[in-house]
Amino acid sequence: MIELRHITKRFSGVPALEDVSLEVRPGERLALIGENGAGKSSLMNVLYGLYQPDVGEVCFDGQAVKVKTPAEALARGVGMVHQHFTLVPTLTVTENVVLGHEPTIWGRLDHARAEREVAATCTKFGFQLDVSATVRDLSVGSQQKVEIVKALHRGVKTLILDEPTAVLTPQEADELFAVTRRLSEEGLAVVLISHKLREVLTFSTRIAVMRRGKKVGETTPAETSPEQLAAMMVGDGVPSPRERGEGQGEGPTTPQELARLDALTATGLHAVSLSIRTGEILGIAGVDGNGQRELAEVLTGLRPWTAGTFAYAGNQLTQWDPGTAREQGVAHIPEDRLRRAIIGELSVEENVSLGRQRRAPYAKGARIDFAGRRASTTALLEANDVRPRDPRVRAGGLSGGNQQKLVVGRELDAAPKLLVVVQPTRGLDIAAVAAVREKLRAQRARGCAVVLVSLDLDEVLELSDRIVVLCGGKVTGEFARDGFDERVIGRRMLGVVDA
Ligand SMILES: Nc1ncnc2c1ncn2[C@@H]1O[C@H](COP(=O)(O)OP(=O)(O)OP(=O)(O)O)[C@@H](O)[C@H]1O
Ligand SMILES: [Mg+2]
Repeated sequence: MIELRHITKRFSGVPALEDVSLEVRPGERLALIGENGAGKSSLMNVLYGLYQPDVGEVCFDGQAVKVKTPAEALARGVGMVHQHFTLVPTLTVTENVVLGHEPTIWGRLDHARAEREVAATCTKFGFQLDVSATVRDLSVGSQQKVEIVKALHRGVKTLILDEPTAVLTPQEADELFAVTRRLSEEGLAVVLISHKLREVLTFSTRIAVMRRGKKVGETTPAETSPEQLAAMMVGDGVPSPRERGEGQGEGPTTPQELARLDALTATGLHAVSLSIRTGEILGIAGVDGNGQRELAEVLTGLRPWTAGTFAYAGNQLTQWDPGTAREQGVAHIPEDRLRRAIIGELSVEENVSLGRQRRAPYAKGARIDFAGRRASTTALLEANDVRPRDPRVRAGGLSGGNQQKLVVGRELDAAPKLLVVVQPTRGLDIAAVAAVREKLRAQRARGCAVVLVSLDLDEVLELSDRIVVLCGGKVTGEFARDGFDERVIGRRMLGVVDA
């Protein structure tokens, strides 16, 4: 059994954890919940040896142990899958899984043996993965699986999953829960950090709730309800998320075509035709890995196309790269914020000025306008409820949800003409999800063309004015709001076209 005893951890004097005690017992499925920035990841980072507590201790079977590195945590049987992936994109699945403890032959990696062993681990735990695929080419959902296999391959006894389902489809999430149930039946302890309360209630045997760095309660699924959990998390009343479909069609003008793809083909996309209109949210529905990512990349200048046409603001595009796209009013909230949207080593204010560091209020002439940058960043943090409200802190030190709020705030601040958002509410707590959806509606209301890619079909149905379904890189359906039928859309996502 593992005990965290009276853990306090401060960053630059500000407490992230205050006197938190928590047990992790063999065979249990413990859920750890709380608002963005509550301290969930930090607490588990202490157990995983990434953070050293300022006060308190970690005990294994009653023995206080200083866990100084993740390698030491792994040696004690503790594995952690992070909110942000730690895989090397250019290596294969096998290479990533065995990284750091490769089987060798004559001092070199024994590739065949490594692949055999990793494939065996996948089979044992029921993960379908191509062990020789390069990680870069995998969908985010598959990358997540690789992370889990990596921990299991090391024979961990305690597995910490930090928001593992934020990127999974409902089916993948179900598979994951089936696997974790089996693991716990075999005596492993599984710790799940999640914002999805329904999932927490079905998954866990015990629930610990955190608020602002403190543990505020423990309960079990049998004793509680989503409402009660939400109330414990926020402390005072639950903010009410907006009703489905509210505020539809409040655009100032009638929608006009801003961009149009005609028979556009690119790697992962086949003859895609669609129209993107001002003052409208166009939802892209699909099962993960069916061309949504590629479409978002084409629109934002990250991916070239090989056939077909792309017209934007009345011009047939010949050249389209991220810089040009940005200049022409395209903003992008990408899927993988840490890799694409934020530079963790830079401060929050430096990140906010990224891509527009030569313009007011971020620059005066050729120089950085430090005061202007500070003031506009402070306003942005306030408007988007990014905590802490400090423009000087390292962006990498923000909690996952607060990084997401920062990216959303920055991209919307540019008053875009076309906003391409991929999984905009990933990793956000209930209140923040409602706030971001509200902001997307506000963009529509000011005439922005919004393209929303989300694996959460409910989110697409709730926000979109029109939905285009992608399957296998092709458009397999287009629906106007009054024709939304979840079942029909679901079938089109699987490529089934009704007679
Ligand atoms: N390396 C770090 N440097 C500076 N501050 C940090 C660091 N790690 C965590 N913090 C701070 O500790 C607090 C708790 O963050 P933590 O990441 O534990 O939150 P969380 O509960 O996991 O939130 P989320 O749901 O958004 O992931 C935040 O205020 C965060 O800014
Ligand atoms: Mg976190």
